[in-house]
Order: sequence, then structure tokens, then C-alpha cells
Amino acid sequence: MALANAQQGVGGRLTDSRLANIGARTIHQAYGTYREQFESITSRARDRFESRDWLGMQTDAAERLVLYRKIIDLVEAAVRDLLGDRLNNKLIWASMKAVYSGLIADYNTWELAETFFNSVTRRIFATVGVDPQIEFVASDFETPPTLSPWPVYRTYGRSTSTPELVTVVLRDYGFAAPFENLSRDAKLAAARIDSQLLAVGALLSVERAEMVKAPFFRGMAAYLVGRLYSASHVIPFVLALIHTGGGIRVDAVLLDEDATSILFSFARSYFHVEVERPYDLVQFLRAIMPRKRVAELYISLGYNKHGKTELYRDLLRHLTYSNDHFQKAQGQEGMVMLVFNMPDYDMVFKLIKDYFNYPKDSTRKDVMAKYDLVYRHDRAGRLIDAQSFEYLTFSRDRFARPLLEQLLEEAEQTVTLNGDTVIIKHCYVERRVIPLDIYVKEAAETAARSAIVDYGNAIKDLANSNIFPGDMLLKNFGVTRHGRVVFYDYDELCFLLDCNFRRLPPALAYEDELSPEPWFHVNKGDIFPAEFESFVGLNGALRQEFAEVHGDLFEVAFWRETQGRLRRGEMAHIFPYSKSCRLHYPAHKTPDVEE
Ligand SMILES: Nc1ncnc2c1ncn2[C@@H]1O[C@H](COP(=O)(O)OP(=O)(O)OP(=O)(O)O)[C@@H](O)[C@H]1O
Ligand SMILES: [Mg+2]
Repeated sequence: MALANAQQGVGGRLTDSRLANIGARTIHQAYGTYREQFESITSRARDRFESRDWLGMQTDAAERLVLYRKIIDLVEAAVRDLLGDRLNNKLIWASMKAVYSGLIADYNTWELAETFFNSVTRRIFATVGVDPQIEFVASDFETPPTLSPWPVYRTYGRSTSTPELVTVVLRDYGFAAPFENLSRDAKLAAARIDSQLLAVGALLSVERAEMVKAPFFRGMAAYLVGRLYSASHVIPFVLALIHTGGGIRVDAVLLDEDATSILFSFARSYFHVEVERPYDLVQFLRAIMPRKRVAELYISLGYNKHGKTELYRDLLRHLTYSNDHFQKAQGQEGMVMLVFNMPDYDMVFKLIKDYFNYPKDSTRKDVMAKYDLVYRHDRAGRLIDAQSFEYLTFSRDRFARPLLEQLLEEAEQTVTLNGDTVIIKHCYVERRVIPLDIYVKEAAETAARSAIVDYGNAIKDLANSNIFPGDMLLKNFGVTRHGRVVFYDYDELCFLLDCNFRRLPPALAYEDELSPEPWFHVNKGDIFPAEFESFVGLNGALRQEFAEVHGDLFEVAFWRETQGRLRRGEMAHIFPYSKSCRLHYPAHKTPDVEE
């Protein structure tokens, strides 16, 4: 941006092509700054893990999440300044794009750099749909423009035994902190590996491992991610490490696609991983999790803006190759959001309505602030990550008529019709799940029961990460394809530490109890856990199951104790895998949440 200022003053009015050149270089320089800072924050993660500096890791994560926006804000201002009265000249922008494309041609992160350029143009033009003249629509480089300097993973050949292979892998990462008990963990992990290979019917034992060179750091853990080959099979292989007072411990081993996929869930915060060429890492991860979208993998690595670009391309592909139509989302309609989806596409589109009915008293701005809070906060595996899109366009005939009528009526400020094109000024796009109220009605009894138990776990995981959902009704939670319960209704979400958990005062008279209004004074932020049981509206066996496993949620003590831990700064590590993957605890002893 210094470049823009320095050059602008030089002798009179610049020619269009000179201006385009400087403009492109200004954006290019800003991209360099972004990339440098992103890498610098990411590279701190190893040290944070080794020195158990969890607060530092949290601060880094928060800093990295706002970095993109911060730099785009600066470069937007610089470009506006530089282009002046020629800001909206599309020919200049087209040349800027060409110059920029040349500048990034030999980059390892060319796709991220393209997205960065698009972020700037979309700020300036508020482009309706996508304009290929001034934006990178598909990548300019169908295949990577350069050869990979070196592979993203390292190969470990045949060892004398599986424990030895695990030992070699663990040592090779060269952590600067000692292991608690390396040989014990290697043996335990190896036993899991051998029995998993037996279970999938593999011939013989492990032949080779391929491990991503850099550890994946997130919160209070590190993950070594790779795959294992036997003569007949390839399986995912993740070693989950925690760092206790006694040293680094292998806490769990993940050996199948589902478990690995849950680790990379769209309801988790982003990993910090040092990587030269994210493209290669995404390809590697895709090979072990073929059902995950490329978009989700980029997002999981903290390249959420580029993930959004990929998601948009994925959506366009779906529209091109299918006849799918938008219809209203299954489940109870919200008072704040209008939600729709296509039957064959597993994402939902959520718009903010123009008006919210009583008793909702928040504004559009408040709702957006809540979605932003979720973006910046630890999502604890329980809050769905949403991508915010502006000016999406779709053909009118893609919409079921009643849906389009409702959109035009209830979200007039957001949805407009221009001929046969529906323009959506703003919407959130997020993964579709099955609303929990529907799931418990339609699923088999055992599945419904386990969903209800996981619903309680979700509320507890959120509480441990300082989030109170606000509206705990089943309709605001959903079930993922892995049977995990997540939350998606953010307009009433708040920090747990801002809530005041109270006991219900005894009724003074019988009529008080019957009264639909409280017979005592209630302040904003007052919450009465005793009311949850009837509020949630479960019946019969499900109600009983929930009360048995999660009865503590109806007590003030649970909430106040959790608040106490949060106030003391005790951080909870919420394990992104099931107890069965853990090495050191017999299943019945394993707590869901540990400090
Ligand atoms: N990710 C999702 N997957 C599937 N369905 C969803 C998803 N998000 C929302 N829905 C559906 O849309 C409805 C409204 O969404 P949401 O609860 O976010 O909106 P709201 O207006 O805030 O609701 P409320 O009136 O409860 O505050 C939900 O009840 C559910 O049926
Ligand atoms: Mg809702």
C-alpha cells in the first residue's frame, strides 16, 4: 500500500495502463503481506504446543481469523485512493487482473492469491453474480502452474514391527518437548493399527506410512496426519497428541475415514499447519477423506476465503449438472431466518428476514454480529461454520414458486428479481443437517436415544467453551451424517459468562404457579435451568434418557461451576474423537470433557 501512495504523486495523471500496473502491484503487495503474516502466526503453533501455551494459541487463532479482513480493508482503501475517478473503469480492472495473474504465475499459493484479488474487486464493485472480466472465475491455472518443490508428505518404509514404525514417525516430528512415555504409546497405537487392519481384512501388516510433514495444531492438541499401506489396503492414520504436565502423550489413534472426517468437521475451528503449497495438502487430505469437499478442506486449514471460492464453484457445477430446485428447508420455519436448499445438494442457504415477529427484538445487524461471533469463537465441534455470500444470482426457474414468493415478500431487502434472475444480496451458506426435532421422530429408537444424549453433550461442550445457545429447543440443533449433534440457530446465542443462572423462587400462592407469566422479577440474561426440562419438550423414553444422562443441566450448580472454571481461565479441551479412539482410558472411565 506504500507502493500506491509513493507512485501516485509522480508527475500528473498516469496513463490507464500504468495505473493498472500499479494497481495490480498494490494488491499483489498486500497479498504478500497477508501471506507473510498468516504464515508467521501459523508457525507459532508448534512452540505454543511444546510450551503448553494454550492462551497464546487461542490468541493466535483469533488474530489469524481477522487477518484477511484487516488486510483487505487496507488494500481496498489504497486502491480507491489510487484509482480515484477511474475506480469503476472495468478496462483498467481487466488489465489489473492480467498483470496480477502474471505476478502470481509461479506462486505455490496461486489459487489463494486469485481469491485475494477477487475479494478486492468484489469490495469495489459489489458485483452481482460474477464478472469474469475482472474476477478469477475458474482458476487461471487449471493445473498447478509450477511443479511442487517437494512433496507435502514423507514416506516411512517397512519397519521391523508396527510399534517401531510408530516410534520412528513420532520421533521424526522432532518436538522440542519430551514424550511422556514413547514406547508405551507406540505399543498401544500399534496394537490399534494391527487390529484395525485385521478388521478391514487387510493382508499382512503395515508396509508403509505416508505422513504430512507438518503437524496440524488446533486448540490444546496436535495431530499427525497420514495414511497407512498394507499389501492390500490403504487406511487413514492420525495420531492425536496432547501435552500434559508429564510430556507429550499419544491420546488417540484414528484409523478410518469417518473418524478422520469428524476431526476435520465443519463445526470445528481451523487448524494451524505450515505448508508451502496448500493445494498439495488438500489433494492429500482428499485422498483420505474422499467425501469431503475441496472447499471444506481449504476452510479447515484456515483458507476459508478460498474455501468459499471453491464452494461457489462447486455450487455452479451442481447447478450445471443437475436439475435441482430450491425449496424451503425441512423443519420448523424460523422467525429470523428464511432457509432453503436443493434436495440433492447438502448445503442450506439462510437469509435474514426483513422483520422479526414478537418476541424477537434483535436487528439484522445483531444477527450478523452473532454469526460473526461464531466465526471468531472456538466452535467446539458443535457450531456449524457458515460462509457469508453477497450478490449471488440464480435463474428464477430454479425456485419453487411458493418459495420465491415468500422470499420476495419476507426478505424484500435481500432478494430482488431482475427479469428472470433472482439476486440475493446477502446469505449464509452452511452444511445441511437433519433438524433434531425431525430426527428424533423419524429415526429408529436407538439412534434417537443416542442423538438425545449427544444433544446434551453438545450443550455441555458449548458451555465449556463459554457459549450458551440461548434457544435450546430441538429444532435449533441438527444431526450430521456421522450422527453428531450440532447447533445452527445463532440469533440468541451468547457468552455463558454473560448469563445469570438462577433458581426458581418458590411460588407464594398456587395461582402463581399456574400463571403463564413469571411471578418474580426476571432480568435480561436471567436463566432458569429448572425450566429446561419442560421447555425442551421431550416425552417418554427420550425424556427419561436425557434426564438420566444430563440431569445436571437442570441444576444451577452445573452452570455456575462451569462459569467458575471459565472465570479462572481453565480451558477445556474438547476431544474431536470418540472415546473408543483413545488409548489410555477404559471406555467407562473416559470423561467427555477434560481440563
Ligand atoms: N444447517 C441447517 N441444516 C438443515 N436445516 C436447517 C439448517 N439451518 C436451519 N435449518 C432449518 O431452518 C429453520 C430456521 O433456521 P434457524 O433456526 O437458524 O432460524 P431462526 O429464524 O433463527 O429460528 P428461531 O425462530 O428458532 O430463532 C430451522 O428450524 C431448520 O428447520
Ligand atoms: Mg430456529
